[in-house]
Formats: sequence, structure tokens, C-alpha cells
Amino acid sequence: MDTTPIQSALHKRVIENLHTAVLLLDDHLRLEFMNPAAEMLFAVSASRFIGHPAQEVLIDRELSTALKQVLVSGTPITERELVLDLGYRPRATVDLTAIPLIDSEGKEALLIEMNQVDRQLRITREEGLLAQSNATRALVRGLAHEIKNPLGGLRGAAQLLERELNNEELKEYTHIIISEADRLQALMNRMLGPNTLPRKRRLNIHEVVERVRQVVSAEVNEEVIIRRDYDPSIPELYADPDQLIQAIMNLVRNAAQAVADHGEIVLRTRTLRRYTIGPTLHKLVARIDVIDNGPGIAAEMRESLFLPMVTGRADGTGLGLPIAQSLINQNDGLIEWESRPGQTVFTVLLPIESE
Ligand SMILES: Nc1ncnc2c1ncn2[C@@H]1O[C@H](COP(=O)(O)OP(=O)(O)OP(=O)(O)O)[C@@H](O)[C@H]1O
Ligand SMILES: [Mg+2]
Repeated sequence: MDTTPIQSALHKRVIENLHTAVLLLDDHLRLEFMNPAAEMLFAVSASRFIGHPAQEVLIDRELSTALKQVLVSGTPITERELVLDLGYRPRATVDLTAIPLIDSEGKEALLIEMNQVDRQLRITREEGLLAQSNATRALVRGLAHEIKNPLGGLRGAAQLLERELNNEELKEYTHIIISEADRLQALMNRMLGPNTLPRKRRLNIHEVVERVRQVVSAEVNEEVIIRRDYDPSIPELYADPDQLIQAIMNLVRNAAQAVADHGEIVLRTRTLRRYTIGPTLHKLVARIDVIDNGPGIAAEMRESLFLPMVTGRADGTGLGLPIAQSLINQNDGLIEWESRPGQTVFTVLLPIESE
């Protein structure tokens, strides 16, 4: 079908303003065209790459092989949640469609559309984390309540019994009952988390992070380096300082345990503009990253990381993360994470201003 100049100007305008990244490759998989959205996605300028093999832009080898296959077979492909590891920029997750085309002269070409889906994935994941945290809290509340009452009775009865006993040897048994009941009681209290309402005030996030750094620095040996990377311009936020200290301390202690005897932990602070936490859009959000270069989160723990009693350490109680999540939730924030061997990042997001 021939197009008039007006029509082709219109087509050009549409394609250049699409949010979807569009690339056109020729039959040798050389780049023939890319729209501004594609330039943004790959952080390259089209003029530099036109006529070059697409592989120079789409570094991913598996993807290049798949594209060749599309040309050969003539069947379109769709790949969901494909991770583009471009090396020179942060990884992007895209849904990709590749469609083989044949023009009026019988020349083959390949049309590629890519939609970046990181943001949707993040929102879905965050909603999951919040729902999980709420469900856990409800379960633990109910369970702790059921355990604490009989436990109090048990302890009281053992105390009464102890008073009646004259034999020191028998008293040892009541001691065991009492001290074990106390241990369980303390565990229940820890699982329930703080039952006081947050005491919020205006605070600078760095007073919190610095406090945690000082405490944990004193606990780790000198081959564990805790590095600071702060953005000093972050405005004050309104939160409970003790709760934030406790939550971030749990994350930094985990990082210290992950790097074991030597490694590096980075405490990074930044702001994010127009960012959603759960269902709420915030004008400005403070972001605190706890980054370690340890082995990463074990695969079998990934789904259940924030559930209580989930631990990968022999002496762990598995309460550090669920408590941290609950404390940060109480301050309208959220903890997110990302991990691969050599780099684990736990991110605390806290609102500075809401829209
Ligand atoms: N930075 C990290 N790197 C690798 N694994 C981690 C990291 N943070 C947490 N984990 C894993 O997640 C598990 C759960 O952490 P969580 O803080 O909830 O409990 P814990 O550290 O085991 O015990 P607790 O904090 O109650 O003493 C840890 O046991 C560990 O296996
Ligand atoms: Mg822990």
C-alpha cells in the first residue's frame, strides 16, 4: 500500500512518540531504525548504530540467536520478563515481541517491540510484600495470644510448687520450667514486635543511619568495612527514630553476618521523586540501601524471606527481617530487596512527602 506524504509524516510522528521501544532490523539483523523510546531503553543514539549489527546494541547473545530463528522460521516470538543485562546501564526487564516482515520487494525484515515492565513488576512485588507482612502479623498475634496465657499459668504454678518444695534437687526442675517459660515469653514478645505506638518526630535520616553504623562497627571485626555513601541534602522525615534504628540495625547485622569475617557493607542514602510505596504515590521518598558483597540470599529462602522463623543461620531466630518490615510499615514505608552472589541490597523506602 502506498502512503501519501501526509500519511507517512503521521506514521513517523506516531512511532517517534510511542512509549514502546521499536526497532527494525534488516535480513542480516542490522539495525535499520530505532525510535526514541528504544534509544532511551538502551541509552544509545540511533545515528551511531544504524547499519551496525543489532548485536552491538542488543548485546544479549541468547536474544540474538532467538531473533535469527524468527527470521529463518518466519514465526513471531514473544518473550515475557526478559532481563536485558546491557552491562553499561542498570538491568531492565522487558516484554519483547519480534515479528518477521516482508516488504513489497520481498525483502525480509524484523520488527521488534519492547515494553519495559520493571515498574509493574516492582509494584506487584511490593503489594505482595505488604500483604505477606500483614498476614504474618495477624497470624503471629493470634498464636502469641494463645500461647502467652497458658504460659503465664504454667509459670505461676511452677513458682507455687517451688515454694512448697524443700528438696533442692527437685527445685532444679521447677527452675527449668520457669526459665524455659521466660525464654518462650521473651520470644513471643519479640515476635509480636513493639506494642507501643510509634513516637514520631522530625528527624534527619543520617542520625539514624550513623547510630546503626556506630553500633555495628563496634560489633564486627576490622576486616569488615562499613562504607558511607550519603546524600546530605535529604530533607527531614517524620518517623519514630527508635523504630528506624531497630529496623536498619537488623538489616546491617544481617549484612555483617553475610560477609562473615571480611567484606564490605555500604550504607547509601538517596531520594526518589514521585515514587509509589504500596498504594500511595509520594512526591519525595527517602531510600536507604544496605549493600553487602556476601554470597547473596539462598535460593530456597527467596519466597519466604520475610516470614517469621525463616532462617539460614544455625543460631538465627528468623525474626530480624519480619520485625524490620513491620517497623518500617508502621512508619508508612517498605523494605525491598535484590540479591545475587556478591551483591545483596536491602532497601528501606520512607516517605518524605505525600501527594
Ligand atoms: N544480607 C544478606 N545476605 C544473605 N542472606 C541474608 C541476608 N539477610 C538475610 N539473609 C538470610 O535471611 C535469613 C533471615 O534473616 P532474619 O534477619 O529474618 O533472621 P536471622 O538473621 O536468621 O535471625 P535473627 O535476625 O532473628 O537473629 C537469614 O538467616 C539469612 O539466611
Ligand atoms: Mg537477622
